Amino acid sequence: MFDQLTKLKEKAVREIKNSKVLKELHNLEVKYLGRKGELTKLLRQVKDLAAEEKPKFGQLGNEIKEELNQLISEIKFELNKKEKAGSSKEKWLDVTLPGRKFIKGHLHPNSLIQYQLEDVFSRMGFIILEGPELESEYYNFEALNIPPTHPARDMQDTFFIKDKTGWVMRTHTSNMQVRTIEKYQAPLRAVFPGRCFRYEATDVSHDTTFYQLEGLMIDKDISIDNLIAVMKVLLKEVLKREVKIRLRPGYFPFVEPGFELDVNCLICGGKGCPVCKHSGWVEMVPCGLVHPNVLKYGGLDPKEWSGFAFGLGLTRLVMMKYGIDDIRLLQSGDLRFLQQF
Ligand code: DAH
Repeated sequence: MFDQLTKLKEKAVREIKNSKVLKELHNLEVKYLGRKGELTKLLRQVKDLAAEEKPKFGQLGNEIKEELNQLISEIKFELNKKEKAGSSKEKWLDVTLPGRKFIKGHLHPNSLIQYQLEDVFSRMGFIILEGPELESEYYNFEALNIPPTHPARDMQDTFFIKDKTGWVMRTHTSNMQVRTIEKYQAPLRAVFPGRCFRYEATDVSHDTTFYQLEGLMIDKDISIDNLIAVMKVLLKEVLKREVKIRLRPGYFPFVEPGFELDVNCLICGGKGCPVCKHSGWVEMVPCGLVHPNVLKYGGLDPKEWSGFAFGLGLTRLVMMKYGIDDIRLLQSGDLRFLQQF
């Protein structure tokens, strides 16, 4: 019987080692070690042995059982690994593979310039405010001394809101002038960056949506000198170079006197191109001294207070700074364009 036991062990070890799949291994486990398994059956025959042989047989039997169990769990581990790798590759994590690089977004060129401007103006003591894009005709026009008959209100320029008489998509950031004076009174320094809308036929330098950055300073004895000084700091800081500028008279109902500040076209260097309409100059900052009526609308006495205002074409500045020759690219969402910034 001892012999039988050893033989059984050899056979079991051979078969277990040869098993190729988990299922086969499981069957062998049952075949030898199960309740009705060969080894179990053989061990039950201990009762037929002579008394002095019983303990020895029992001990050997247990050792074999132990050995087979150990062998089965080792083989099970190996087969498990093999089968997992083979059946579904996703489940197998290879921690040695290099990580996948994920694509990071970045700021739009408009935002880049806007934040830069905000920084320049904050350092000069200006607060930064945002205003509504859907605006009443009152703040967009009336309070800016633009009467109902003014051409700026013409259907060609303004998006009026259907079923909401008296409301428009703001045509400029100047809508914030009187709102701000009403709220903060004087003295006051503020800039208002934001999106504006015009009913335009689009081309390389016109779009229906664009950005401006408006500025307003009100204090005692503000003059054109203050305006020019601030404009110079602004352009130098943003364009990072000295640019040629020129100031010519311009008419805007909410400033008196009013000016157009032009910058020498940075795209063509002044030679003439479609962006500067072949003039060599680009209108960059319309500006002027705040009209007394605007101060009055805001509740200030024009005899006591004066100020300057400007409406920087943020979108234009972005185009100048980066040499973008078509305004429509900025709103296009075209990644080939955007990824360059
Ligand atoms: N709001 C004007 C426009 O969009 C620009 C402008 C002109 C703003 C003169 C000003 C200013 O503050 O003083 O055409």
